[in-house]
This record gives sequence, C-alpha cells and structure tokens, in this order.
Amino acid sequence: MSLPADLLDRFRALAGTGGHIDAGADSAAYETDFRHLYQGRAAAVLRPASVAAVQAIVALAASERVALVPHGGNTSYCGGATPDESGREIVLSLARLNAIRAVDPVGNTLTVDAGCVLAAAQVAAAGAGRLLALSLGSEGSCQIGGNLSTNAGGTSVLRYGMMREQVLGLEVVLPDGRLLDQLRGLRKDNTGYDVKQWFIGAEGTLGIITGACLKLHPLPRAPLTAMVAVPGLAAAVTLLGRVRDAFGDAVTAFEFMPELAVTLALRHVAGARLPLAAAAPGYVLVEIDAADDAAGHARLAAATGDLADVAIAASTEQAQAMWFLREHVPEGQSREGASLKHDVSLPVATLAEFVACAEPRLAALVPGARLIAYGHVGDGNLHFNLSPAPGADGQTLLAAGGAVRRLVHDLVRDFGGSFSAEHGIGRLKVDELERYEDPVALDLMRTLKAALDPHRIMNPGKVLR
Ligand code: MLT
Ligand code: ZN
Repeated sequence: MSLPADLLDRFRALAGTGGHIDAGADSAAYETDFRHLYQGRAAAVLRPASVAAVQAIVALAASERVALVPHGGNTSYCGGATPDESGREIVLSLARLNAIRAVDPVGNTLTVDAGCVLAAAQVAAAGAGRLLALSLGSEGSCQIGGNLSTNAGGTSVLRYGMMREQVLGLEVVLPDGRLLDQLRGLRKDNTGYDVKQWFIGAEGTLGIITGACLKLHPLPRAPLTAMVAVPGLAAAVTLLGRVRDAFGDAVTAFEFMPELAVTLALRHVAGARLPLAAAAPGYVLVEIDAADDAAGHARLAAATGDLADVAIAASTEQAQAMWFLREHVPEGQSREGASLKHDVSLPVATLAEFVACAEPRLAALVPGARLIAYGHVGDGNLHFNLSPAPGADGQTLLAAGGAVRRLVHDLVRDFGGSFSAEHGIGRLKVDELERYEDPVALDLMRTLKAALDPHRIMNPGKVLR
C-alpha cells in the first residue's frame, strides 16, 4: 500500500514544477543501491530545488508521519539512500540543490548546496587557486551532502583528514522542518556544543543537510606521484614509516594494492595499465606534495632503499594513469564476479599481522576464496574483500557471507579496530553496530535520535534499528 493520493499530491505541490518523479520506471534508479544489495519501492521521488521547499516537505512529512529517505549521488556501499520495500517511504533527492554558493579565497572557504557533485566543488575550489581536500573514486557522481552524511574518507585522509575535518559550517533541515543555520566559515567558534557535528556521519537519520561551508587548502605544488613494487603488506607498512620520516606531513596519499587487485583491474578495465617493469606481490601508490624535483626524487630513492622497482610519474597524465589503476580496483573485482566486502580499520602497525591471522581462518571457512586486502594503508584502512576461487560458483561464497563477516569483524574487534572505517553503516551494518559498538555510545546515539526525530521519519532503519 502506497500513501493516499491526496497526500502525495500535497508533497508534489511542495516540490514544485519538475520536482517529482512518480513511482514507476523512472523512479527505479532511486529504489536500488549502487551495489544492488537492496531493492526498495518508493511512494514517490521528490526533487525540490530550494531549501524552503525541503523544509516544507519535511514539515508535512512530520505532521503526516511519512518517512523520508535523503538521496545524494547514490554511491553508498551500505544501502544508506535506498527506501525500504513498503512503498510508503518518500525519496528526497538533493540533486537540484546543486549551486556553488560562494568561494572565499581569503578565508579559504567554499560554500555549496548539498546536492553539488564533489567534482564540481573541487573544480570551483581549483578555479580560485585552492584545494578542496576530499578525493574519492566516485567523485564524478557523489554529492557533498552524501559525503557529509557518511563522513566520507577516500585517498587524501592521511594528510587532510576525513570529511568531518573539512567542515566549518552546516545548514540542516531538522526533522520538524526547522532550519539549523550554522553556515559560517569561522575557524574559531567555541559556543557550547558543536551541534553541526551531530549531522556529519548520521546518514540522514537526524535531519537533511542542505548546505555546507567547507575548508579550502593551498593547491598542491609539484606533487610527486610514484608506484613502488613491494613484497607484501608488511613491507608497505615499513615503507610508509620511511616515507613519512623522509617527507613528514607532505605525504598526501599512501595506497596499497596486492597483486591480485591489480591483476583484476588490468584484466577487466579498459585503459588500466601497470606502470612498472614487472608484476610484484604488491604495489604502493604514494603521493608527496612539493617533492617532484631532484632532491625529492633522491629522498624517495633513499626511502625505498632496496625496493628497486619504482616508477615516478613524469607527467600529469602518468600520475593520472597510476590513480586510474588504483581507483578501478573495485571495478576490476566486481567484474570478476561475486565478492564479499569489508571496510575495516586497524592500528597501522598491526595490519600485516591482522591479515596473517585472518588468512588461514578464511581458508578453512571458504576454501579457495581469494583475498584482496587493499586500500588506504596510510590510514590503517583495508578494504578486506574476497572473490571466489577462479571458475568457482560465486553463490557458495555469497552463502558464506554471514560467517565470513563474523570471522572478520570479530578479529577486527580483537585487534582494537573498526568494522566500518569509511563506508558507514547504512542498512547493511545495523546489526554490526549493535554488536560491536560500545553500549554507552549506542545509548547516546539512541537518545539523540529520539530527541531530534521522535516520530522516526528520517531515514528509518539506517544506522539504528
Ligand atoms: C576504495 O577505496 O576503492 C573504495 O572505498 C571502494 C571499495 O571499498 O571497494
Ligand atoms: Zn576506500
């Protein structure tokens, strides 16, 4: 049963001309997630074009107790933007709220609508000679509101931190329709609780972010991008220490890919190529600010020591090709067939030991399955994924998904890590949050949810049950 027709008419009227998509073929893209883990059904998809319209829609939803599912670029790995199967939830897309509101190169801030695509925000910052320091594989389609709501990570966290650290001010429509207007670009503002932080990483369960004032940084100058062949993850972690000793905070990215990750990207992704002479058990992609000169190259050579196979990008195109390979690792793995994904973080010093501990246990549970543990090693973040044995039926691996998840996440807990480093909770990891989160923290989360959204209309079933 959907919502009553007259109620839907009222919502449509509030969304304005061109502001709605009725349930049916055109709404399909809003009813499934990026990984096709969930197939929901929406009562309607609304696409308001102003903050006032978002407020009016939320106010009506509050008075009629209609659930809203905020929707950005739909690149969530955890089903965070997908409606449930009831046909009674309204998807609220922020896509038409996509203006660059202001760039301030003196205060080093960028103020944008939540529906602004990340790449467009990066371009706006670069146009003013500044860097918006968030970089993700999905930056061509993910939106700032989604980046904020999931506290996105990506490939430059090592130097600049996660999305939370890029935020100076926020504008949020609260679950009763009021507007929290904290769109300020102040670096210093010690005025009680920092309430904007509640909405970052809340995945739309406490309100709908409509605008943000973000920090800008100086543009990188003469960045050195290099690919280094390594014997494995332990050697990559050792190299991380050496490179940071040599270059300090100028190391902006440090990504690890095991051989299989690269093999699958080369096999399945047109245009992917390996910039090194020969295949190796693993590869590190490192980027270092202001180091692309003779002195920088010499320091990198000293840091890599006996790791002889090192390619330094000689042009922007070569650097882009290295990043292309790294960013297409997920696509390579998904084109290979079924996969199980985990997004874990651990103390950096324990990464290799963690993998060594997990490997034999996984081999016993899912014999022949291939482990692809890659990612943001500089941040202690591994995408700890599995693919079936070559030629094997993916269904067997998928059927073992629950047991594998338990094994991996229990081990992560034992190592003092997190079962969700950067992809969030969404619908996929609600049980995991209940299982692994500190009960006091969970209690605080539930208290906050009940206080802000007493009718539970904001993205129900995501993050908290
Ligand atoms: C990545 O770093 O490639 C992404 O977070 C995606 C993934 O986990 O596959
Ligand atoms: Zn990642």
